[in-house]
Amino acid sequence: MRDIGVVIGTRPEAIKMMPVIRSFEEAGLKPKIFVTGQHRELLSPILSELNLAATENLDLMEDDQSLGDLSSRILKNMQSALRRHRPDLLLVQGDTTSAAMSALTAFYEDIRVAHIEAGLRTFNPRNPFPEEMNRRLVACLADIHFAPTAQAEENLLKEGIESDHIHVVGNTVVDALFYSRDHLVSRLSRDFQLQEAMDLGRSIVLVTGHRRESFGADLASICEGIRKIADEFKDQVEVIYPVHLNPNVQSGVLPILSSAPNVRLTRPLSYLRFIQVMLHSKLIITDSGGVQEEAAALGIPVLVTRRTCERLEAVDAGISQLVGPDAEEIFNAAEELLTNESVYLKRAVPSLVFGDGHASRRIVKVLLKEE
Ligand code: UD1
Ligand code: UDP
Repeated sequence: MRDIGVVIGTRPEAIKMMPVIRSFEEAGLKPKIFVTGQHRELLSPILSELNLAATENLDLMEDDQSLGDLSSRILKNMQSALRRHRPDLLLVQGDTTSAAMSALTAFYEDIRVAHIEAGLRTFNPRNPFPEEMNRRLVACLADIHFAPTAQAEENLLKEGIESDHIHVVGNTVVDALFYSRDHLVSRLSRDFQLQEAMDLGRSIVLVTGHRRESFGADLASICEGIRKIADEFKDQVEVIYPVHLNPNVQSGVLPILSSAPNVRLTRPLSYLRFIQVMLHSKLIITDSGGVQEEAAALGIPVLVTRRTCERLEAVDAGISQLVGPDAEEIFNAAEELLTNESVYLKRAVPSLVFGDGHASRRIVKVLLKEE
């Protein structure tokens, strides 16, 4: 299979697709990159810092977009793009609306689909919302499934997907992380504000959050927990929180956290800057899938502020802890890690549960063998 299309809609898809595109290039191929533009400001700096040039950029984002409107824009515009380019196979990643709707369009256009990061499940159709349904939908549409872990493979087998169509390869996020850490982060120019925070000698607690199912009461409760950590450890901890651009996130976070002197609310960071901050962090509090995977590979303990989790491999390894959106639980878990060094050291062990950094090469090898 030589004429490959790749879909990128959001920040994590760009990061997780980057090493796959590079592996194709190493094999002498140039995949066509279809950027839906589901994200705009979050995506464009990452596309340029990772040197990803769109074959087509559909620029589909609208402010506070609804799932139905976004889906219909993707279906219509991806159909035109696929008719213009007609790749032999379309590669989609993860569980976003871009991934699900692009896979559906490819199916309608009789183009084969391969799914990267296949088989993640919470088994709760509404949590994470709508991602659990998106990835189940992609599993129905895909011809080839690249599962990151044995657990993900098992989930797919239980849904009746034939084992010949599943390849356990690891998660490409680890490929991107190791390459960027070892070759790109050291070339970053200084960011004075973040450097100042990292030079204070305090423990850095890095926070992110953006899940739709948390908007409202749960997000407020998560922020109350973070506020309590900042207040109770005011001379020991510096919180860095790059706030997602979704207006529902901004309106939930700012009223609770903007007045805390040791909480730095920033705009979303570029990918390389985010890795740089992660490398200096003592603890990460997040609902992000990608950040959980990166933190595990780096050995940074994570508190996962979600009610369900599809990345239990890191919980089983002891590096992640599922705390949910409860303020007290978040505070208590953080307090234990910040005050009990022996508990901390047992948890802060790098783990390759999500991959060894070579997933992309395995994916390309499989696809090059396909007819
Ligand atoms: C989306 C994905 C989620 C993924 C996340 C990664 C879906 C349903 N959700 O969630 O799975 O984890 O991306 O970050 O596919 N916005 C901007 N600029 C941007 C990006 C977003 O202003 O560059 C604002 C816009 O108002 C936009 C809103 O955020 O309408 C929501 O964006 P959307 O992509 O629909 O959802 P996310 O919450 O970002
Ligand atoms: N990330 C980033 N800048 C930030 C926050 C996160 O580049 O300010 C990166 C992070 O390294 C990870 C990815 O974004 O690779 C995760 O994306 P996100 O949390 O938006 O989505 P999810 O992984 O939950 O789908």
